[in-house]
Amino acid sequence: MRNVNKETITQAFMDYCAADTEPRLRFILERLVHHLHAFARETELTHEEWRSGIDLLTRTGHITDAHRNEFVLFSDLLGLSSLVDMIHSSEDATPSSVLGPFHVLGAPLLPVGGDLIRNNEGDPLVVSGRVKGAKGEILAGAELEIWQTAANALYSSQDENQSEYNLRARQVVGADGRYCFSTVRPVPYEVPTDGPGGEMLRATGRHAWRPSHLHIIVRAPGYRSLVTELFPDNDPYLDEDAVFGVREGIVMHYEPHESRDDLPADLEIRDTIATPYLMVDFDFVLAEK
Ligand code: BEZ
Ligand code: FE
Repeated sequence: MRNVNKETITQAFMDYCAADTEPRLRFILERLVHHLHAFARETELTHEEWRSGIDLLTRTGHITDAHRNEFVLFSDLLGLSSLVDMIHSSEDATPSSVLGPFHVLGAPLLPVGGDLIRNNEGDPLVVSGRVKGAKGEILAGAELEIWQTAANALYSSQDENQSEYNLRARQVVGADGRYCFSTVRPVPYEVPTDGPGGEMLRATGRHAWRPSHLHIIVRAPGYRSLVTELFPDNDPYLDEDAVFGVREGIVMHYEPHESRDDLPADLEIRDTIATPYLMVDFDFVLAEK
């Protein structure tokens, strides 16, 4: 098109795409450019604003490496990661939530009833429940992956003073679909603020806190894998999670207990856990593929 103007440029972009462009790619690009052009028209984006946007993206690229992805953090802080999660979360299943940047592969297997507290400080917490399908069927052999912060608000992958897999485990449920482990209550923490994501938070008067949570992935053959988090109902940041990960259905009560008699029989540290301790019972529900 030769006579491109403010109104025709969006269609001109589409006309430039070859007819045999892969249909999903064509659709996504069409909608992306439609909204991008509409955004520029609506805001009357200035050259200076356009340049600072390009500069922001450039710096986001420069700070990104194999251990840190500032683009993902930006997506989290803008609510895009959570929106994509919610669009694809099944109505029949436990709500999903953000994966975050601190998941690492290779966590060791922990038997049902096993302990993650070891040398960690913090309030003892016993987490147990079952893994089920949407019709209530028990998913024997399902696998859980668990990771969380230590008392200093750092994940083991951020802290050279923690062992590689501290507060990380995989657990395979038995024929009864039951999982169980002891750990310490996770603590709230701030997402990294030393990059362009942090600049956006400061420029908009936002804080970087996430409410405390346990990260969990649940997998079972024939079912959609669930990436989620469990939040305690008394966390001060529940209503203002910096990355929009909190959903009703994954907020739960950590019940305080005094007596070890209330503990599950198969808990490895049943006779030695410090009292009082907290306990939570939560069933995960997976949707069929
Ligand atoms: C996390 O929960 O580990 C996390 C999620 C998004 C951004 C930063 C951290
Ligand atoms: Fe986290």
